Amino acid sequence: MRVGRAIGWTLVVGSAVVALGRPLALQAQTAQPPAHPAAAVSGDATYTRDIAPILQRSCENCHRPDGAGPMSLQTYEEVRPWARSIKTKTGIGPKAGVMPPWYLEKNIGIQKFKNDPSLSDKEIAMIAKWADSGAPRGNPADMPPPRRWDDSSKWAIGTPDVIVKTTEIVVKANTPDWWGEIPRVPVGLTEDRYVSAVEIKEINDVDTGGGGRATVGGRYVFHHMIWSTAVLHDDGAAPDPLALDDDSTGWPVHEVGRNPDFFDPKSARLLKAGSSIVSDSVHLHSNGRDTRAHLEIGFKLMPKGYQPEYKRALIALGNGVDIDISPMEANQELHAYAVLQEHTKVLSFEPHLHAPGARMCLEAIWGYNIQTLNCVGYDHNWVRGYHYDDDAAPLLPKGTILHIIGYMDNSPANKNIPDPRNWSGSGNRSVTNMFIDLGNRVSLTDEQFQREMAERREKLKLTRNSVVRGCPLCNITPAAAARGSQQQQP
Ligand code: HEC
Repeated sequence: MRVGRAIGWTLVVGSAVVALGRPLALQAQTAQPPAHPAAAVSGDATYTRDIAPILQRSCENCHRPDGAGPMSLQTYEEVRPWARSIKTKTGIGPKAGVMPPWYLEKNIGIQKFKNDPSLSDKEIAMIAKWADSGAPRGNPADMPPPRRWDDSSKWAIGTPDVIVKTTEIVVKANTPDWWGEIPRVPVGLTEDRYVSAVEIKEINDVDTGGGGRATVGGRYVFHHMIWSTAVLHDDGAAPDPLALDDDSTGWPVHEVGRNPDFFDPKSARLLKAGSSIVSDSVHLHSNGRDTRAHLEIGFKLMPKGYQPEYKRALIALGNGVDIDISPMEANQELHAYAVLQEHTKVLSFEPHLHAPGARMCLEAIWGYNIQTLNCVGYDHNWVRGYHYDDDAAPLLPKGTILHIIGYMDNSPANKNIPDPRNWSGSGNRSVTNMFIDLGNRVSLTDEQFQREMAERREKLKLTRNSVVRGCPLCNITPAAAARGSQQQQP
């Protein structure tokens, strides 16, 4: 029985369920949970051999001096006192509070992501076993060499080619939420370049223990920044960011605790010579103590001479208007839909909820084919974007309906809620609600769509019987695909 379940699990989590083509693969909601992870580990577990490599890979970037985490986890002496807490924090599943902060559910949907820091079930079981057996040090000779952290390792995109700092601001301990404009800062580019990745960090003077709040608003004060880069007019005015001309480029919204964005290599974004960072929509949320903060924006550039092939897709997916959340109730569902007007490659999934948000799922409906692409937990102190690996990014034909399902927890169990006895509706404050998928997507012409699918078929060695989560037409040979899409489009 255990073996059968384990096999079912492996099949369902694969982004490409090759050859077996079992209908089970499409029924994400019925995916089996894994066998209890503890079952996976045999023998003893020691710090030097088993635990240190995991901490070096997935924890030290924050848990080291100067990192974002409250304590360093680089030596046995530093780690030992935290053994029980590390077991708890790594073992609570993909929801608020888990370490590292990455909430992807592993028993549903696509599983291949860029910069995925998460631990495998086996590693989680290994940590538990180690903590439960007295957290032994083990043989010092097994210890991997210390991982070196220098300035370049501060950036998940690699050393940026351009770093821009916004003006410093102070957010007082007990100030209400604030929205507004921040001073414009020149980027300093003298020629037009295209950007392959962008990362934003909040740098503040909160000590690593976090802020003084029991509810939402831990470490960071920049809740979000909607921003663009623009070549300012002679009178200092910024061009309309919605005009979609070359003088202004919109960028993914920065959010609290957010990880970086990678653009499709065929759809890098333009950073104009002479442009400035422009934002008239910064939202600040106090973290319970006086905090001095600024943002650092790091851009990674494409080689000179690069030109993009794909267009950015502008799809609004979500509901920011009529949200109705009852008091004292967990697990309340919200739904929103969008019909794709073009063939679309989905580069990332990024739930944007507020304090009551606990989870979001993304589903693609194409004819009678309904696939859960992903479900992720949510913690409003750590807004994460999930960037698909290049050969796992969903390729969806036009006419597909994207469906997001939000799960809101307005019960005393959600620590981010100041008072769950209140009804809660839409709003901009961190304690009211939003329900949006801010993921990046590109739209593809017929030809580009066919080419992307052909490459996928080749790379993943797909056959007619393959069932590919996120690519309902991937298993169809090119001639049949052309016919199929004419006949079957809804
Ligand atoms: C992206 C940065 C980051 C990463 C990666 C990360 N942590 Fe953390 N960790 C934090 C922060 C910040 C806190 C403080 C609580 C919070 O803000 O969620 C924390 C809190 C903790 C705590 C609780 C400390 C306490 O005061 O009770 C433990 C234990 C922990 N982390 C262990 C780990 C382990 C083990 C890993 C790797 C498997 C890890 N963390 C990865 C940033 C990180």
